[in-house]
Amino acid sequence: MNTILVGAQWGDEGKGKIIDVLTEEADIVVRSQGGNNAGHTVEIGKEKFVLHLIPSGILRAGKKCVIANGVVIDPVALVGEIEGLEKRGIKLANRLLISETAHLVLPYHRALDEQRELRKGRNKIGTTKRGIGPAYGDKAARTGLRMIDLVRPKTFSTKLKSRIEENNAILESLGGAPLSFREVEKAYLDAGRKLAPYITNTVVWLHGQLEKQKRILFEGAQGTFLDIDFGTYPFVTSSNTTAGGSCTGSGIPPHRMDRVVGVMKAYTTRVGEGPLPTECAEVSDMLHAMGREFGATTGRARRCGWFDAVATRYARVVNGIDELAITNLDGLDTLMEIRICIAYECRGKRIAFPPNDAEELLHCRPIYRKFAGWQRPTSDVRHFKKLPVAAQRYLKALAELTGARLRIVSVGAQREQTFTV
Ligand code: IMP
Repeated sequence: MNTILVGAQWGDEGKGKIIDVLTEEADIVVRSQGGNNAGHTVEIGKEKFVLHLIPSGILRAGKKCVIANGVVIDPVALVGEIEGLEKRGIKLANRLLISETAHLVLPYHRALDEQRELRKGRNKIGTTKRGIGPAYGDKAARTGLRMIDLVRPKTFSTKLKSRIEENNAILESLGGAPLSFREVEKAYLDAGRKLAPYITNTVVWLHGQLEKQKRILFEGAQGTFLDIDFGTYPFVTSSNTTAGGSCTGSGIPPHRMDRVVGVMKAYTTRVGEGPLPTECAEVSDMLHAMGREFGATTGRARRCGWFDAVATRYARVVNGIDELAITNLDGLDTLMEIRICIAYECRGKRIAFPPNDAEELLHCRPIYRKFAGWQRPTSDVRHFKKLPVAAQRYLKALAELTGARLRIVSVGAQREQTFTV
């Protein structure tokens, strides 16, 4: 059974935790898009792990993890992540594989990300400033450097020199500081030496594993509405965060995928700029006061709102979601009344799917259905039938309005605070 796991909202759906749970049924976990803009949090007992590039599957002994071709890698950050895990007793040797065709994030990508955001002023995207957009830009423009270059120091240095010259000119014209070729060269070649044992042809390796009937879990990063094609463009990230990205980002063809699991929160959150139709200050204030909803990568407070079934319905069709994992149900425990957006009213018309124009989305007014709250803690519940009836009713409505089968419910950050339905 090969499973694709995607975020059905704007990212931060709690994917790290669900991946950790589903990894029990998998042999290999593959990350196929995005970069260290992602932050997947997993809490095991008293320990908290935040992973940015390495698949969360690494926390389960014996499981193999792949950073595949579709990912953009900051090698220095990746070395830091590997060393951080090793210090905490997680063994990576013979368990982590890195694609030789994955593109590199270089310091000029980060600098350009920052300069472009600065120049956009009020219209900024609110990126994580990890250089993701410029790195994918270079990939598409065919001016990128890849992992395969990093392990060939001569080739790397020649290519890097010319890329730094061009990018320094751009950076200076934007008012940024130029980079030192020597410093970047040294830092990257050092990182390259440390990463070399992990770098390989992951496409060939993965197909070999498929022949051995190994079960693969594809770990999505970010969420459907941050997808470069299907999200609220231009307030998106620069990769395909939707199910198809797992195929192009790994080299595993679509017919080898068996199911798609969509992860969504029991409410909606977004970090960064861009439209969020169900945004609600009271929901944000309540969750922040509980100490919840601060970004794992940048620490920014997330914008919060009611569950948006117009969005998740679209996510279901674009990703082909079969099963749902609903997280953070316990975040709503104290509310007397809960709302679900079932449609939008847009310029006098009722619509069931979001418009493609982010500007138009700003004119959409959510149409809500109200639900009674349960006002009881759910974080100790381990069976669907033991949930308060109002919570059961609410979850069933989320699944029905989205159009997929409810499979997993999460009621807290801990591994055990999860049950299947
Ligand atoms: P970038 O991916 O850093 O270019 O950021 C583009 C947009 O995607 C911004 O709104 C970010 O806040 C958002 N974003 C990127 N990665 C994540 C993530 O892992 N979770 C939530 N939002 C993200």
